[in-house]
Amino acid sequence: MIPAMIPTVTLNDGTAMPQLGFGVFQVPDDGAHRAVATALETGYRSIDTAAVYGNEAGVGRAVAASGIPREELFVTTKLWLDGLSRDGVRPALEASLERLGLDQVDLFLIHWPAPATDNYLAAWEGMQEVRDAGLTRSVGVSNFLPEHLRRLVGLGDPAGTVPSVNQVELHPALQNRDTVAADAAHGIVTEAWSPLGQGAALADPVITDIAAGHGATAAQVVLAWHLQQGRVVIPKSVTPARIAENLAATDVHLTASDLARIDALDRGMRTGPHPVEFNG
Ligand SMILES: NC(=O)c1ccc[n+]([C@@H]2O[C@H](COP(=O)([O-])OP(=O)(O)OC[C@H]3O[C@@H](n4cnc5c(N)ncnc54)[C@H](OP(=O)(O)O)[C@@H]3O)[C@@H](O)[C@H]2O)c1
Repeated sequence: MIPAMIPTVTLNDGTAMPQLGFGVFQVPDDGAHRAVATALETGYRSIDTAAVYGNEAGVGRAVAASGIPREELFVTTKLWLDGLSRDGVRPALEASLERLGLDQVDLFLIHWPAPATDNYLAAWEGMQEVRDAGLTRSVGVSNFLPEHLRRLVGLGDPAGTVPSVNQVELHPALQNRDTVAADAAHGIVTEAWSPLGQGAALADPVITDIAAGHGATAAQVVLAWHLQQGRVVIPKSVTPARIAENLAATDVHLTASDLARIDALDRGMRTGPHPVEFNG
């Protein structure tokens, strides 16, 4: 059970996922240990890591030391490009589980489609196998564009699995509307990475104006904008006061007019690579 203060979304396989979690990209192993320990003490129950972040061991140590029952936690990790093949998935996940000190993760994602390698369809078969073997509760993808989702979902196998989650770059300056619409059409939950635009969204005068009106911070306004549209968010911070501030975004309620003003900030501005161009 996820504590009631954090809203959950129900994935297409019936699993409940906390809508607000904690990201640890670009945090070294020791720092991840400290940051995740603080996040868990503060009340977060969902942690987003990846094999390529090099901090699964630190995340795992913090999870173990927290004493929080495993079933209250939601741990996500991701398959790096070196495992992007049908037979590459299981050994990659087993190595992640070993580093995390867990028997099972809650969500395992293909990190990037790397479309030039044309390996993601084969890897998706491996993802379903590790789900069926119980090494992960749910399976999903990250950085998949509508064209990549169409190929996965269109494999034609009636027993085939539709991804539960698509984790993509999404913040006020990059709203990724085509992908969000494709996710919704396929019953896939959209999870926003860099939900604060790596901090860049916070200085926008529209955001600071809305924040002043609500007695909230800019980060809380941006996170509330995501949450009120049903997205999962995983803001990252190594700063204890910000870790607490971001979690309290669940108490901020924006008006329809606030949401529309933030919707109007889309500039197509990426902080990370374009999924078509990132092939390892
Ligand atoms: N699937 C993918 O390809 C992919 C790619 C990138 C990220 N991700 C995931 O998404 C997570 C979040 O993305 P991100 O880390 O790139 O960026 P982000 O969460 O949008 O922003 C993090 C930055 O904002 C600052 N910050 C956080 N809370 C703040 C607050 N309340 N006030 C002011 N500044 C604040 C942080 O500073 P301090 O830490 O110094 O406090 C950090 O510099 C990652 O950690 C990772 O788990 C996934």
